[in-house]
Amino acid sequence: MIHIADRISRLGTETAFAVSAEAAAWAAKGNKIYPFHLGDINIPTPATVIYGSFKAIKEGKTGYCPTAGIQKLREMIAADLNGSHGTSYTFENVAIQPGGKPVIGKFLLALMNPGDEVLYPNPGYPIYESQIEFNGGVPVPYGYIEGKKNFAIDVDSIKKSISKRTRLFILNDLHNPTGAECSQEELNEIARLAINHDLIVLSDEAYFDIRYKGKSCSIASLPGMEKRTVILYAFSKKFAMAGWRLGAAVGPKKIVDVIAKLNVNFESCTNHFIQYGAVEGLTGNQEGVKNILNILKERRDAAHEIIQSIEGIRCYRPNATFYLYPDVTEAMRAKGFKDYDTLRKEVLHNTGVSFCTRQHFGKIMPGEKKFYIRIAYSGINLNDLKEGLTKFKEFMII
Ligand SMILES: Cc1ncc(COP(=O)(O)O)c(C=O)c1O
Repeated sequence: MIHIADRISRLGTETAFAVSAEAAAWAAKGNKIYPFHLGDINIPTPATVIYGSFKAIKEGKTGYCPTAGIQKLREMIAADLNGSHGTSYTFENVAIQPGGKPVIGKFLLALMNPGDEVLYPNPGYPIYESQIEFNGGVPVPYGYIEGKKNFAIDVDSIKKSISKRTRLFILNDLHNPTGAECSQEELNEIARLAINHDLIVLSDEAYFDIRYKGKSCSIASLPGMEKRTVILYAFSKKFAMAGWRLGAAVGPKKIVDVIAKLNVNFESCTNHFIQYGAVEGLTGNQEGVKNILNILKERRDAAHEIIQSIEGIRCYRPNATFYLYPDVTEAMRAKGFKDYDTLRKEVLHNTGVSFCTRQHFGKIMPGEKKFYIRIAYSGINLNDLKEGLTKFKEFMII
């Protein structure tokens, strides 16, 4: 008999992939799908990255490389962050990873003991909750509230949730799924709490460079924070490299050394030759990156205009990430849809439009009364985006 280990019962998943599978099954029956569900990007990876990787393959960079990554890329990432964050990292503060996601589990493995409490965003990227529970920690969610121009991190709920057992704080600024960004005051307040309560922060910066207006600010830049922050650095979004699998953990050497030791145990090293591609991407011309942002901005504006015009739906227009997070409470009530699955499936089967909902971003909290969906506009071209969302609008007419 096969007995799956008990710990697996505590392992969650990224249910956006299940929505993907449902959309694919609907497409296999001959239906046109408008994919708004996954945060994947259908824009080409910059030519510099592709060229650099090919060159490395031709030069035979196809064997193992050091477990923390090639030194050149570690240096480039440290320099990139020092430029944008005003930090003082060297290559020794960087451990290359196969994507940004592995940083989450490794951060927790390195720093969390069973029973430790970890504050994390909910709604939020579902892997935080999954990995905290899987590794025996206690997940303590904090929320986002509706602000003037966008959602805002709920600093009061953070303050109330800190206890003697809180050890770690996960911050995802700029935020998936709401697109929210912290104000300077909010970041200062979170830094103050982290310092006063001796918390180590995971700063998930997967979307740090996906911004159309203004400037991103990292909590690691604030006084006293560099030494208590681990940055999740990812190439998936900024260089449209989601399928290449490349990222890094950046932080105090003492923690990064442990993460590198975990690398040896999990994957030996990250794919060797794509690391040279990323070096070219960081050092070469930035036309490809500008192209990604221009395309995404055009999509954001078009998507927001249509969604916002639907009766019973309210939608902010975030300046960062590639998500919209509309409040569909009124529209659902008017159409008689009582739950998320009914809404999602009815929309998919009647229009081909596929999206995730609030329930794909962490457990729904007691007292939550409003309904939200997440529209990812990164994986669909402009014409299809307009066509799909117009069908959605027509379907939602009351
Ligand atoms: C908030 C957040 N963190 C981390 C990741 C993981 O990124 P990667 O694809 O680089 O593993 C994602 C991916 O969607 C994300 O949304």
